[in-house]
Amino acid sequence: MSEFYGWPDAGARRLPQHIYADKDNFQRELDAIFFADSWNYVALSCEVPEPGDYILSSVGNVGVIVSRDRKGTIRVFVNRCTHRGARLCEKRKGNNKLFTCPYHEWRFNLEGRLVGVPLSQGVKGKGGMSPQFDPQNHGLKQLNVCERHGVVFASFSNDMVPLETYLGPKILRYFDRVCDGRPLKVIGKHKHVVAGNWKLQIENVKDTVHAAILHSFFTLFGIWRSDQETEIVVEDKGMHSVLASTATFSKQQTHSEEADSEFSLLDPSLIAHEAEFSHATGAVMTIWPNLIFLQQLNCLVMRHVEPVSHDKCVKTWTFFAYEDEDPALTARRVKQANLLGASGLVTIDDNEILASCQVGLQQQSQFECAIEYGEGSSDCDHMVSESAIRGFYNYYRQVMEL
Ligand code: FES
Ligand SMILES: [Fe+2]
Repeated sequence: MSEFYGWPDAGARRLPQHIYADKDNFQRELDAIFFADSWNYVALSCEVPEPGDYILSSVGNVGVIVSRDRKGTIRVFVNRCTHRGARLCEKRKGNNKLFTCPYHEWRFNLEGRLVGVPLSQGVKGKGGMSPQFDPQNHGLKQLNVCERHGVVFASFSNDMVPLETYLGPKILRYFDRVCDGRPLKVIGKHKHVVAGNWKLQIENVKDTVHAAILHSFFTLFGIWRSDQETEIVVEDKGMHSVLASTATFSKQQTHSEEADSEFSLLDPSLIAHEAEFSHATGAVMTIWPNLIFLQQLNCLVMRHVEPVSHDKCVKTWTFFAYEDEDPALTARRVKQANLLGASGLVTIDDNEILASCQVGLQQQSQFECAIEYGEGSSDCDHMVSESAIRGFYNYYRQVMEL
């Protein structure tokens, strides 16, 4: 355990740096958060439309297989063979009738039952599985699964409340604003490493302040600026939040005509917005523990943050659209992925700054971060507040018993 294990008296207005730097703390997070009472995003159901379809995902740092069984039910299995622990499935997605382990070829059906064990009767009357061995006791480890409007979540816990209760009415309203039951389709996928603790990534999208400062592209073209009409919504316990804002699209005033022309868009369609939701041009939602559900202009994406170690996470981006929409709108979403995607004109700033934070936070972990913008840890109607971050850490302290 870390020498500096504890929490400052100022509560969520101060964050002890060891929560980013301490390997033991990371292990405790896996047990207390990801393997405990949480609904973890794993996939969109349209990624496994037919029986036998599967896609690999993760819950915490544990690899899982999201697949559709013969009756059409989505199941989530730990991607681990029950014989000796080999990774059962290597291919990122596909369609299987059985999952066959590469090591000794144990076979599991789409319901996760062990249905084939090579050499189980031995050879020439010798060897084979012991009489005590019962294949029924060696099926794949299955997680509990829930789905809402095409979005699939899984949990190791058997005590989960329904997803709707978990999200609460304020967050559910924003969830359904985009995922309203219309069938979805995947239009792109990105995956990349962030050289920082997973919480830095979650904080980053609860942080309205940086978005209007660090992301010069946003401010310059009036997509996300601190003077915009804004709503920060925080779930009552602090678990989830939404930052919703309305772009002005007014170009930022610069000091000279020369500078002004230097920063014009050669292709203005990159930020051309087709209004399609009830209010706000962007709503950035975080769902405890590690899903970022982003709508920014016409770009729709699930950003799944996989905690790999105390100093590294992997982000998987699933860009989506509505199955029946106008192809021109889909093309617009794809184009805007260049703005908001993994190496886009905005996110690339975050990838750099989070890696920079991780270095600083690890250097002398007895220090604290100051989360002092704004008041409280709940809803507010402006952009200059870190209330959603404080809400997150109020809940974090509770489940981590810190
Ligand atoms: S480890 Fe999978 S069959 Fe042996
Ligand atoms: Fe950002």
